[in-house]
Amino acid sequence: MTDDLLARHRAVLPPWMPLYYAEPIELVSGSGRRVTDAQGRSYLDFFGGVLTNMLGYDIPEIREAVERQLATGIVHTSTLYLIRQQVELAEKIAERSGIPDARVFFTNSGTEANEAALLVATNHRRSHQVLAVRNSYHGRSYAAMGVTGNRTWSASALNPLQVAWLHSGDRVRGLLARLSADEQVDAAVEDLREVLATQTSGDVAALIAEPIQGVGGFVHPPDGLFAAWKKVLDEHGILFIADEVQTGWGRTGEHFWGYQAHGVTPDLLTFAKGIGNGFALAGVVGRAEVLQAVPGISFSTFGGNPISTAAGNAVLDYLVAHDLQANAARVGAILADGLRSAVGGLDCVAEVRGKGLMLGVEFVRPGSGEPDPALTNRVFEACRDGGLLTGKGGLYGNVLRMGPPLTLTEDEAREGLAILVDAIRSSAEVTA
Ligand SMILES: Cc1ncc(COP(=O)(O)O)c(C=O)c1O
Repeated sequence: MTDDLLARHRAVLPPWMPLYYAEPIELVSGSGRRVTDAQGRSYLDFFGGVLTNMLGYDIPEIREAVERQLATGIVHTSTLYLIRQQVELAEKIAERSGIPDARVFFTNSGTEANEAALLVATNHRRSHQVLAVRNSYHGRSYAAMGVTGNRTWSASALNPLQVAWLHSGDRVRGLLARLSADEQVDAAVEDLREVLATQTSGDVAALIAEPIQGVGGFVHPPDGLFAAWKKVLDEHGILFIADEVQTGWGRTGEHFWGYQAHGVTPDLLTFAKGIGNGFALAGVVGRAEVLQAVPGISFSTFGGNPISTAAGNAVLDYLVAHDLQANAARVGAILADGLRSAVGGLDCVAEVRGKGLMLGVEFVRPGSGEPDPALTNRVFEACRDGGLLTGKGGLYGNVLRMGPPLTLTEDEAREGLAILVDAIRSSAEVTA
């Protein structure tokens, strides 16, 4: 059955849209943190459709909220009419964003959210010069790809922006690796000053950065770097855009937004993925003065439609009522501590990193420290054989990524941890 579907998939869908696993799977049902494939095999899901099924599967509160909206007969109206669910969700997000006098524009994807942020930032500053971070991923439109610093995800050289690149927070390789946190912050600030002086002609519009780089393999800079950068940006009036598509809504455990680890408030914040728990919902929040910098009509047919915002309201209410941020901190610590003590010392593990329920393990060849994507793939397949879905990423495809639903229980964390540790140890033995 699945083989037939795979052949049909390959016959009609483009090859640049990758499928996971040597033998791809079709997930046909889900409940809580577990999914079942077309062969009847069940898995604990530590990737949640790329950190998107933030509450898990088949959550009654979300289903009922969407069913209530469906029962009105209104699935869609367009934003030409008032949408109660949209206004309510915008009020909640504006308040939680930490951005003063905030306005919210809803889109269907993280790409469009970043595109909108870049639109208003470049209009507001009357400049198409933008700073971005190496190893970033911000989406698949021309501007979002243009600020994406990862060759694998850069599908075109066409770029409406003029982009200058800052070093990432990579602690394993690159010019700022192996420095102490304070030294790394100082070096990154020096890098920013030098890039501004040598690669721009002044009047830069914005810096866009992910607090923890998602596709980039959960690389993140030391806490406080964004505030140190912002001091320099403020000297020039340059805006700061936090891409919270993966890091938002309490996933990092310690904070509601990733940017809060840095003691800074962004001018613009983009969100997507988890807020719809699978329904297409994303957007940008910004200070009114900045977000209003659109000198023409800008309209998204589906952005923030009644169904997706009904889901979004229910997701946000559920998240807050169950304090899932605290759960991410507590359960994430079980995973992080367990991984560090069980496999952190292996020669093939360069780093166990991340925060809350956003954790990565970077694999290298013992001795040389070269990235080891083949080992990463073996671990990835072994996890699946053991009944655990995970993700992969990193500039060299050598990072195993875990971003389970924030409802993950302690027992499920321990169950997944045991599968991970087995998969890593057994795959590393093959290498040794
Ligand atoms: C940090 C970040 N920004 C933007 C995007 C693009 O979001 P979308 O795929 O919804 O367009 C992604 C997607 O993975 C992401 O991880």
